[in-house]
Amino acid sequence: MDLTGPPDPDAWALTFSGVHKRFGKHHVLRGLDMQIPRGKITVIIGRSGTGKSVTLKHAMGLVPPDEGQIWVGDRELGRMGSAEKRAIRLRFGMVFQHAALFDSMSVFENVAFPLHEHTKLSDADVRTRVESVLGDVGLLFAIDKQPDELSGGMKKRAGLARALIHTPEILLYDEPTTGLDPILTAAIDQLIVETQARNPGMTSLVVSHDMQATFRIADHILFMHEGKVIAQGGPDAFRETDDPLVRQFVEGRLDGPMAVE
Ligand SMILES: Nc1ncnc2c1ncn2[C@@H]1O[C@H](COP(=O)(O)OP(=O)(O)OP(=O)(O)O)[C@@H](O)[C@H]1O
Ligand SMILES: [Mg+2]
Repeated sequence: MDLTGPPDPDAWALTFSGVHKRFGKHHVLRGLDMQIPRGKITVIIGRSGTGKSVTLKHAMGLVPPDEGQIWVGDRELGRMGSAEKRAIRLRFGMVFQHAALFDSMSVFENVAFPLHEHTKLSDADVRTRVESVLGDVGLLFAIDKQPDELSGGMKKRAGLARALIHTPEILLYDEPTTGLDPILTAAIDQLIVETQARNPGMTSLVVSHDMQATFRIADHILFMHEGKVIAQGGPDAFRETDDPLVRQFVEGRLDGPMAVE
């Protein structure tokens, strides 16, 4: 991607330009170019091991690229000092593939944790905020439960509530429905759409390899293959694509240009 200057921050929440990343000899990101539109739900799809989770870590500045540039709005991560990087990280929320709750803490304590860490809100204000967010994700009834008393779907809701608690500008989801049954998957997909609709200034970036879910929630889809985005467009463009790689993935077929390792 030829950037002549900083990206327009009103249009793009995130921009990757020519990003490369190697882990030892393993060349994972291979010239990744992508722009994530602000205020929409973008879904990154692609096969296992193609670098989707690594891409999310780069977006938050948790992993530095070997080459290329990553912009959060119009600020480039590589040119930030450590204080600005820390501040930028607070503009992100992350919903992990595995809910990553603290087992020894109640749902309330888990969700309140980022507020205690990063704000000086009073206990009463923390409680009000936690109750409001748990209400939004349909988990208020479980506020005093421990994580081991929750089902998989309830844990995902708690993880989402924790990611939402500081009203992030960019919400990242890494395979939010892996391991859930189809009904719970549909419920979490609906929650992703509702969460975006309730926070129009927010940007959602979801990593998935579930095509049904992708078609259900995406405004924009990026197809990653071997460390690069090789196709992008709206759901209709993906349903109708002639690209043999994308077709094989979308239809989940064994025969096609991609081999099964
Ligand atoms: N910290 C690391 N050190 C070494 N290799 C890594 C590291 N993180 C990721 N990798 C490698 O980078 C490649 C891409 O990993 P990544 O987790 O991004 O894949 P993915 O597309 O998210 O796959 P999946 O759909 O299975 O989650 C993998 O081969 C992985 O082993
Ligand atoms: Mg992954």
